[in-house]
Amino acid sequence: MDTNVELDKIDITGEAPLEEPARQYYFMAKARRHLEAQRERLGRPLTAAVTTFGCQMNARDSEKLVGILRLVGYEMIEEEDADFVIFNTCTVRDNANQRVYGRLGELKGYRRKNPNMKIALCGCMMQEPSVVEKIRGSYPFVNLLFGTHNIYKFAELLCTVFEQSDMVVDIWEDTNRIVEDLPVERKYPFKSGINIMFGCNNFCSYCIVPYVRGRERSREPKDILREIEALVADGVVEIMLLGQNVNSYGKNLDNPITFAQLLREVEKIEGLQRIRFMTSHPKDLSDELIQVMKESRKICRHLHLPVQAGSTKILSAMNRRYTKEQYLALAAKIRREIPDIALTTDIIVGFPGETDEDVEETIDIIRQVRYDNAFTFIYSRRTGTPAAAMEPVPEEQVKRNFDKVLKTVQTVAREQVARYQGQTMEVLVEEINENDASLVTGRLSNNTLVHFPGDASLIGQIVPVCLEECHGFYYMGRQV
Ligand code: 5AD
Ligand code: SF4
Repeated sequence: MDTNVELDKIDITGEAPLEEPARQYYFMAKARRHLEAQRERLGRPLTAAVTTFGCQMNARDSEKLVGILRLVGYEMIEEEDADFVIFNTCTVRDNANQRVYGRLGELKGYRRKNPNMKIALCGCMMQEPSVVEKIRGSYPFVNLLFGTHNIYKFAELLCTVFEQSDMVVDIWEDTNRIVEDLPVERKYPFKSGINIMFGCNNFCSYCIVPYVRGRERSREPKDILREIEALVADGVVEIMLLGQNVNSYGKNLDNPITFAQLLREVEKIEGLQRIRFMTSHPKDLSDELIQVMKESRKICRHLHLPVQAGSTKILSAMNRRYTKEQYLALAAKIRREIPDIALTTDIIVGFPGETDEDVEETIDIIRQVRYDNAFTFIYSRRTGTPAAAMEPVPEEQVKRNFDKVLKTVQTVAREQVARYQGQTMEVLVEEINENDASLVTGRLSNNTLVHFPGDASLIGQIVPVCLEECHGFYYMGRQV
């Protein structure tokens, strides 16, 4: 679709239409005029930079921001001294927040050199009233703040920023609205994330996500399938279906369908080669899903199944709604049905009330499930969550236990990943290796990284590679 021509055809002399997405296209056309005027005034093209913090959801949201910024006429660059700088923030742990404040401080310096610069903040952090207060008070040079529920309004907000000098703040508490058909610019031509649902209803007691991302809302299957078909027609071979808890997909639709049923439909799309998804809550993982994965030729041999903790006492305090035994039984069932699957997980160390004995149970789970990888986090107190009111674990104990858990993960994962040494497996090549330009980097179906000699012509292709040497979490290989 030649969106350039279409934008120029939009009449912006009248009132903005009320329906979406037409309203946003109107504002994109308007923003483009603003930019043309600025370009003329400054005698140079205008640049924009998007910085993403946090998860795959945010990465996908940032692609939507880039889609709009490029369409209205910005040249996208990496540097934060651009004319329009936007941080798409994360607040799942406090260190993410601290990084945003640090980077904002740096921006103040750039702003002095480029008075034309506009600064915007969006994403999960902005859904916290205390953050908005702090930015209003300590960072008054910020031009625009908006949250997770109204990201679809970005073009409209951009126009407001061009038309008023005060800080523009537009944060919604919640929404049940999903706006389809806005522009997106993918980071990779051959793979893409796709939102299938937004929000989370689980309220794990440590987690801020349900407060900042709102209640669960699923997209209509037909919209998802249409989007994937268009992506495949545009060269995408691998997709990642995204949701905070994909296993409860479809429950709140007028015509409810299960996640497994959706996967069956996605599988039928011709030309699509690999299907991934994130994240699965163990309490909702159905036998139907295991069956669909087992029978599928396209669903990747990888399941991310966050356990969070090993002790049933802590799991209960976390409001995870499964016991250690139930989790272990589920993992064993998955391994039995799909023996070549890689299981990965998230683990939190230092949740309030966690003792050394509880941590031993986490270590026991790691050894029994034999994860291929695990993201290990130190518990971070999030204001407004039930766990924030609970007694914290002494820091020294948390550090000691974190190191212990990390060591166990590394030992087990190394052995797990090495299972395929010497075998030839298919690798989807993603990029030129960051450290050695004579190598390319790609992923196995089970998500393990592989580096091997090759050039840019391989990017986006699925090629057979002999896995010659396992180095912990990745392989060095040779194309065969
Ligand atoms: N502290 C530490 N880790 C957290 N996570 C979520 N909330 C917190 C918190 N308050 C972790 C969980 C989740 C992952 C995305 O982030 O492990 O699965
Ligand atoms: Fe947070 Fe739990 Fe929802 Fe995951 S399932 S986003 S950890 S509340």
